[in-house]
Amino acid sequence: MKAIADIDKMKVFSRIKRKSGKSIGLVPTMGYFHDGHVSLIRNARKQNDVVVVSVFVNPTQFGANEDYRQYPRDPARDKEIAKREGADIFFCPNKEQMYPSGFSTSVEVEKLTGNLCGISRPGHFKGVSTIVAKLFEITKPDIAYFGQKDAQQAAVIKKMVADLNMDVMIKILPIVRETDGLAMSSRNVYLKKNEREDALILHQSLKKAEDLFAGGERSSRRLVSSIKEMIDSKKTVRVDYVKVVDCETLKAVDQIKDKALMALAVFIGKTRLIDNAFLKVHDE
Ligand code: PAJ
Repeated sequence: MKAIADIDKMKVFSRIKRKSGKSIGLVPTMGYFHDGHVSLIRNARKQNDVVVVSVFVNPTQFGANEDYRQYPRDPARDKEIAKREGADIFFCPNKEQMYPSGFSTSVEVEKLTGNLCGISRPGHFKGVSTIVAKLFEITKPDIAYFGQKDAQQAAVIKKMVADLNMDVMIKILPIVRETDGLAMSSRNVYLKKNEREDALILHQSLKKAEDLFAGGERSSRRLVSSIKEMIDSKKTVRVDYVKVVDCETLKAVDQIKDKALMALAVFIGKTRLIDNAFLKVHDE
């Protein structure tokens, strides 16, 4: 595996590979790998000739009062993991290269970003779509891999690619969880022992709602109430939102017909965590 920090070198590498008929798989990340990231890299490895893993903690997707500075970083360990999983390129540009002074262009996906995390994190998705568009342009992937853990991000990237006719296929992979059910996240390291225990309520409350749904409950309001009630029983956890939305438009749904996305965000102390589950009448 080769580490590339320079944008121009990355572009040349990708151009040569594409010209020689090789397919490129890209896994965009902000590093501090866990098994969620590993699952994306493994899938990319299976499906492409060349695998590029990018690690860049993107400042423009963090709000002024968010954790950009504290965000966990361990590039040496990430590099080892990427190598172990058979990646070809570890692309790790710096902030000055990605955002040189005078940088003034952005990509904004409207509508989809007006709900869920888009409300509590204004500007976040603009930062995400802009950096992902840049990464696509630099690495020229045939396929790019994202996780269902960030359901709204996945929907936003798919929409950007469709709207801007970008020449890349987007693959979304399932949420990878700890054995006790907590969705893996680089931010889980922030949790103190009691917070880590209380964090289990996210998955547990989603599961309870899934059970209610399986038992015939179709009212979003009642599913949301059940989740909020369970979460409110934990002292350290504060609800940001709990919503049932349409899987594509992310607009609120009152009565669930075929399928919907149930998504939530909470604060545990200063840590913001998200989780979600699909509700489906018929298995696809
Ligand atoms: P990051 O949080 O590092 O996540 C990188 C990718 O891993 C994302 O597609 C995310 O959805 C996926 N992922 C995270 N936790 C997961 C889990 N438990 N199971 C499955 N997949 C998981 O998401 C970002 O970085 C950034 O916003 C980025 C897209 C790189 C743009 O800066």
